[in-house]
Amino acid sequence: MKNQRIAVIGAGHMAGAMIGGMVRSKLLAPKNIIAARRSPDALAELQRKWGVKTSTDNKKAACEADIVILAVKPQMAKKVLEELSGSIRADQLVISVMAGVTTAAINAGLRVPCPVVRAMPNTPCLVDAGATAICAGEHAEDKDLAKAEAVFGAVGLVVTLPESALDAVTGLSGSGPVYIYMAIEAMIDGGVKMGIPRAIAAKLAAQTVYGAAKLVIETGKHPAVLKDEVTTPGGTAITAIHVLESKGLRSVLIDGVEAATKRSTELSKLFAQ
Ligand SMILES: NC(=O)c1ccc[n+]([C@@H]2O[C@H](COP(=O)([O-])OP(=O)(O)OC[C@H]3O[C@@H](n4cnc5c(N)ncnc54)[C@H](OP(=O)(O)O)[C@@H]3O)[C@@H](O)[C@H]2O)c1
Repeated sequence: MKNQRIAVIGAGHMAGAMIGGMVRSKLLAPKNIIAARRSPDALAELQRKWGVKTSTDNKKAACEADIVILAVKPQMAKKVLEELSGSIRADQLVISVMAGVTTAAINAGLRVPCPVVRAMPNTPCLVDAGATAICAGEHAEDKDLAKAEAVFGAVGLVVTLPESALDAVTGLSGSGPVYIYMAIEAMIDGGVKMGIPRAIAAKLAAQTVYGAAKLVIETGKHPAVLKDEVTTPGGTAITAIHVLESKGLRSVLIDGVEAATKRSTELSKLFAQ
């Protein structure tokens, strides 16, 4: 990756997190990254923060790159693909984080059979704790997936799946941080209700979620095993489990993932029109 040049088209929140991750992890030198968006002020800030090159000219930025990352909002996809068509060569790798925009639509929009890797990252990429699924388009090979894996690996976990699974990934990890924010918020309120000052309840709730996730990841144990290990007969945890089960905590989370997946599929169809 060290000699690769990357152009990031639509250098907003998600792309900014990826640029930060690539620079911090020394995946490639800042001079090999060019960030493009319309706002010169925002570009100046990216240059100041990460030392990357910048441009308000998408075509010029893309022409000089080996890898072109597309990170504009899905609503802007058609316009930007049209703008870039004729500038992207078949030997350039295109990586897209645009939700719901298929690899086939990207190849069609760019009018070139270049390799395309589509990704669904999530916002914890901002703190190098992202969860990203990547998939290969028709013209992408293992070496292209490996490059995309290196890019997203700089900001967290990466898995490879078929493109048909990307709506489900959107429902699980793409939208998932929101479910956990709601759980943290509710736990804070529970702590406040039981007399803990809000600021302290907030610290305890967030650290509890962080610690529980870290235990699942680092021990490799099934969450149900970890749950059973801390469930004392007649104790507090089993008493709470009974309440949470009777109110459908697990079912409601499964329903949430299912609903977000279906909505992702609906939106993909809208962007395809
Ligand atoms: N945020 C998430 O959790 C998340 C998760 C997975 C995937 N994604 C995907 O990531 C993409 C970006 O999301 P985001 O949250 O980072 O949005 P964002 O902060 O709004 O970033 C998009 C950027 O695109 C730039 N832009 C708009 N029109 C442009 C154009 N014609 N040429 C070049 N740049 C242009 C905008 O800057 P200017 O106005 O300065 O041009 C903006 O900074 C979306 O497609 C989204 O589906 C996001």
